[in-house]
Amino acid sequence: MRELVRETDLRPSSFVLPIFAAEGIVEPQPIASLPGHSRQPVAALGGVGREALDLGIRSVVVFGVPAHKDAEGTEAWSRDGIAQRAIAELKQAHGEDLVVIADLCLCEYTDHGHCGVLEGGSVANDATLEVYQRIAISQAAAGADLIAPSGMMDGQVAAVRAALDGGGFEQVPILAYASKFNSAFYGPFREAAGSAPQFGDRSGYQMDPANGREAIRELEQDLAEGADLLMVKPALSYLDVIAEARRRFEVPLAAYNVSAEYAMVKAAAERGWVDGPRLTLEILTSIRRAGADILITYHALEAARWLAGA
Ligand code: PBG
Repeated sequence: MRELVRETDLRPSSFVLPIFAAEGIVEPQPIASLPGHSRQPVAALGGVGREALDLGIRSVVVFGVPAHKDAEGTEAWSRDGIAQRAIAELKQAHGEDLVVIADLCLCEYTDHGHCGVLEGGSVANDATLEVYQRIAISQAAAGADLIAPSGMMDGQVAAVRAALDGGGFEQVPILAYASKFNSAFYGPFREAAGSAPQFGDRSGYQMDPANGREAIRELEQDLAEGADLLMVKPALSYLDVIAEARRRFEVPLAAYNVSAEYAMVKAAAERGWVDGPRLTLEILTSIRRAGADILITYHALEAARWLAGA
């Protein structure tokens, strides 16, 4: 009876598994603050994709961790850059079976750790857009199915759309990190990607956690610029934004259950303070109930296993 009247379902096909592909390693390197996750060498990615597919997870989002960073983040658009090689490897191994989403940002590639290029010590919005255009083309050329700009520069969706259209990639859609807050919940990710800003913070381009109405404006703006799918990030502290976005927009809505949301659950479960599997499935259900169609989550593999009763 409970199942008959259940309003919200959780299924592995709406999960997206984040993958960190690292240059210059031969063995997976565990990420201390993301237990169960590792930086992966390119050669291991086929296997990671296989594990996801076997559990019914059809989508991954790829982050590149380059061996060398510089002021401009040039490795981000190199034809044989780590993200490009990772995307190509996943597509080569799994073709149409696996949706490969490319995160488009500079913070993993710049030595200063900001999401854009600097001019006079601060991030230059419009100069960064040109760089994002180069990255988008290189990721689409590598085979990415979806481009996901996450740097929160103004005008980034329009710029990336124009670049993709001009480069012969009209069919590649954009998943916009439209409503992305300047959050302490990204801590473990920054350890994983070595992408913490070396000075200042991201408050110049990411949103103030206090602003829910501004979040809706950001979502509207990205839709107007040509986004095909919208994202709210982080998820848990922003369920109100997800719910409001669900009411207002008809496009597919993604929520990013980010690194510290995962790490908190893992840390508490490790101490025996909470029931990890139950807590995880309750959290994922709540994000779906709020209105997200797509769940980007570090819990993807284990949650799929638990749902299968394993
Ligand atoms: C790149 C990017 C970040 C995350 C996803 N893309 C880091 C940041 O903005 O600092 C964070 C994801 C997570 O914490 O899981 N800009």
